[in-house]
Amino acid sequence: MRMVDIIEKKRDRHANTQAEIRFAIQGYVEGKIPDYQMSAWLMAIYFVGMNDEEAYYLTDSMLHSGEVIDLSSIQGVKVDKHSTGGVGDKTTLVLGPIAASAGTIVAKLSGRGLGHTGGTLDKLESIEGCRIDLSQEAFLKQVKDINIAIAGQTQEIVPADKLMYALRDVSGSVPSIPLIASSIMSKKLASGADVICLDVKIGDGAFMKTMDDARILSKLMVSIGKQAGKRVIAFITDMNQPLGFAIGNRLEVKEAIDTLAGNGPEDLTTLCVEIGAQMIYQAQKTSTIEEAKTLVLDLIYKGKALAKFHEFIRSQGGHIHNLDTFIQVKEVIPFVAQKEGYIHNIKAQSIGLASMKLGGGREVKTDIIDPMVGILLHKKVGAYVKKGDVLLDIYANKKVSSEILDSLLDAFDIQPTKPTPSPLIWEIVS
Ligand code: URA
Repeated sequence: MRMVDIIEKKRDRHANTQAEIRFAIQGYVEGKIPDYQMSAWLMAIYFVGMNDEEAYYLTDSMLHSGEVIDLSSIQGVKVDKHSTGGVGDKTTLVLGPIAASAGTIVAKLSGRGLGHTGGTLDKLESIEGCRIDLSQEAFLKQVKDINIAIAGQTQEIVPADKLMYALRDVSGSVPSIPLIASSIMSKKLASGADVICLDVKIGDGAFMKTMDDARILSKLMVSIGKQAGKRVIAFITDMNQPLGFAIGNRLEVKEAIDTLAGNGPEDLTTLCVEIGAQMIYQAQKTSTIEEAKTLVLDLIYKGKALAKFHEFIRSQGGHIHNLDTFIQVKEVIPFVAQKEGYIHNIKAQSIGLASMKLGGGREVKTDIIDPMVGILLHKKVGAYVKKGDVLLDIYANKKVSSEILDSLLDAFDIQPTKPTPSPLIWEIVS
């Protein structure tokens, strides 16, 4: 078999076979296929696409390029969730404890944030002492003991994705639906869960800008998961404003705790109840989805989900001494509206970039994060504001640059007419 024939076949709009796809992935990971051939093939996939079978074979080949987590020694249904990346998205910190306190197993591998989006690992590491570098043995023991552990992805998980993503990033083939689907699903399948709930974000600051693309991506990921014998459900959710009010690591941890205590923002709470109920229902802990929703609310209002959160953080070495002093910055600077009207849109990407530039995120992988800084919104889409009203607070430990202020100014679309509200959950694909 020759890589050039595989590339030409895809270029000429034919489907690649399972054997060809496996040859390409194995050869690339082993260093036998050079970057220029792999990037040519990836670009051909970008233009031509892949059918569902090819996308599954690609995912399966990527999945088997490295270690696959074996959760078979743990009793019970294992559930996982994944978001395609949002701003202010702290749902894992809320959903993990909810699902675990309902008796499902959450053995989750998470990632770090880069650019305008945050990552669960950075949020966890913002808590004093909290470790995410658990050995496989410690990870499995914690899951057995308390139903939940969240750790960082090791280098051994889907090495093909690390190599291919780096190549796509510098050769223009990141926004390809089959490549995104196989990248996400190979990592999810390698984590060993039986049930996978996907949160596909749509809007500014999300990978998917249109409903059509979000629907195609969701259907493809569900199809890949099902071909692998998993229960997969995808939520297409709104990212035309950040989720909740808090953006920045400790600010988001605090908002997650408030949500688990029943005092969270409406959008975050609604999303967590809906996805949490699906995780529990798909794990067959209840016989209807309505029952699962009631259970989620019960776990929140009886304090069980919050108690599970603290147990989980303690198990990973973390301490939250006092929530009132949890966030300490040099300055909290109000940012006010420059005109009167209704907020139509809060560009999640601009807010995420402002938080990153304050030190709350990374521009490049090696940047060090300041866990305290970020943005706390006071207003959301639909609010009526007067000139001078506080739109948000900037939590800063250094001088706020004009670039950051411009980014925040650019984020708010304020108009005289009332906006039509858009749904938080656009569609559920299963
Ligand atoms: N997230 C991933 O993990 N991979 C992609 O290709 C895009 C988003």
